Amino acid sequence: MTDMFRLDGKVAVVIGGAGGIGEIMALGLAGQGAKVVVASRNIEKLEAVAQKIRSETKSEAAAFQVDITDKGSVTQLARQVVARFGTVDILVNSQGANLKRPAVDFPVEDWDHMFNVNVKGTMLSCSEFGKIMIEKRRGKIINLSSVRGIRATLWGGNEGYSATKGAVDMITRSLASEWAPYHINVNAIAPSLIYTELAAVTLQDPERLQKYLANVPLKRVGQPQDLVGVCIFLASAASDFITGQIIYLDGGLTAIG
Ligand SMILES: NC(=O)c1ccc[n+]([C@@H]2O[C@H](COP(=O)([O-])OP(=O)(O)OC[C@H]3O[C@@H](n4cnc5c(N)ncnc54)[C@H](OP(=O)(O)O)[C@@H]3O)[C@@H](O)[C@H]2O)c1
Repeated sequence: MTDMFRLDGKVAVVIGGAGGIGEIMALGLAGQGAKVVVASRNIEKLEAVAQKIRSETKSEAAAFQVDITDKGSVTQLARQVVARFGTVDILVNSQGANLKRPAVDFPVEDWDHMFNVNVKGTMLSCSEFGKIMIEKRRGKIINLSSVRGIRATLWGGNEGYSATKGAVDMITRSLASEWAPYHINVNAIAPSLIYTELAAVTLQDPERLQKYLANVPLKRVGQPQDLVGVCIFLASAASDFITGQIIYLDGGLTAIG
């Protein structure tokens, strides 16, 4: 029996591919045989990740700069990917911004920034790479949502981020329906707290962390590595009949309360 989790010959693009979660998912996809493009704004960090992928796996890797909030920049990225690798089979949207501000004084520029990166950015990249997948009548899209798309925090300040992730969930479900005729699976991974830069505010606050862990049956913060298996599954033939789903990777947080 062939290994249904292998990704040999596939081309994967990981936006936010030098981020805490993006890097480890990019490495995981490459480990299964995919050629991987990592893309975001910081080209030095991306080049280092691409080099790591090439040295730790047998797969090809490339780094390209993109500002995911800018349509022209995303179009240019799609062109570069096709010029280099011929197509795209897997898109992972792992870019993100998370700014916690009091509801009564939520700076509008912070609100706009989160919506630009998390919502507009997700839609722009799905749209641009989706065109290529529609043409070939196949593709896998994996968006990064969050448990905060359906659960509030006990400490507040999270209206903007939560609202963006609720929007990512509905982009995911809507595209899954719209693009099902083209055999494009669109799913999301919704983690709870994971040890990365983006979660620093919560991770560095012992009281907040204690409140958080009280509601997590598995009693730990996640590691980026925890996302790899689900990412490979959603990118592979093993998940061909799964679309429009938000997979909660949360130590059981959403199972209770
Ligand atoms: N860590 C958690 O606890 C957690 C929990 C739930 C959900 N998530 C979600 O998981 C995803 C990955 O998060 P993470 O923890 O890996 O965060 P991270 O380490 O901060 O990585 C986020 C990445 O997004 C990229 N990015 C930001 N703005 C961008 C833009 N305008 N254009 C292109 N790329 C941009 C950044 O790269 P550049 O600076 O190079 O642009 C960065 O590498 C996010 O969607 C986040 O909301 C994280």
